[in-house]
Amino acid sequence: MRDMFSTIAPKYDLITRVFSYGMDQRWKRLAVRSAMLPARARVLDLACGTGDFAKLVAQVSPETSVTAADLTETMLRLSKLRQVVCADAALLPFADDCFDAVFVGYGLRNFPRLTVAIDEVRRVLKPGGVLVSLDFFLPSRRWLRRFYLAYLYAQGAFWGLILHRRARVYTYIPDSLQSFLSAKEFSNVLEKMQFAGVTARPFILGGIAVHRAKKPSSNSAR
Ligand SMILES: C[S@@+](CC[C@H](N)C(=O)[O-])C[C@H]1O[C@@H](n2cnc3c(N)ncnc32)[C@H](O)[C@@H]1O
Repeated sequence: MRDMFSTIAPKYDLITRVFSYGMDQRWKRLAVRSAMLPARARVLDLACGTGDFAKLVAQVSPETSVTAADLTETMLRLSKLRQVVCADAALLPFADDCFDAVFVGYGLRNFPRLTVAIDEVRRVLKPGGVLVSLDFFLPSRRWLRRFYLAYLYAQGAFWGLILHRRARVYTYIPDSLQSFLSAKEFSNVLEKMQFAGVTARPFILGGIAVHRAKKPSSNSAR
């Protein structure tokens, strides 16, 4: 995982804009607004990559304290952010109940142990804090699913050949998506893992979604 993301890191921002036809920043801005951050919030950008969420949060509310964490050191270096931590989402080096919001951009799908990472997010969130995720999902309709995966393979192979002379560099997106979930199924996972008020905003026919989920104020259930 680390090797793959180190390879693509220098071209990561370009490819994100190209793959999303420029819509990625709009989705991320919407995700940041949906968090409804309190004044002087503490925020974690998990699997931050080059730190888009951290930078957008800092723009929108400059008094917020933003920490960015990622497994890949090259990504953290390219982010040029000051408060960065190299960490695995499955074992976060943060205290319980310390963040008002955790943003995860295109990260959850890549975590080998999804529920362990979600548990960790829940642990580090303050009661009442929110998880906001932007990710790829399998469209609910079966025919659309097949078309979407085929499209992502073709797009990934094309840009892999153009930018790296290797067709498989960007096909990690459909590779990881194949065995992932629909946006609705992911909402169900969050609810089962005791998040409250789970909402999902789908884009491009459910192929992308922004989820928002709250850690309940009472910390009793786990
Ligand atoms: C597709 S990039 C997303 C970057 C950024 N969040 C964005 O929205 O554009 C996925 C990132 O997840 C990181 N990552 C993958 N597995 C991880 C893990 N187990 N723990 C932390 N970060 C991980 C990768 O290093 C990579 O930077």
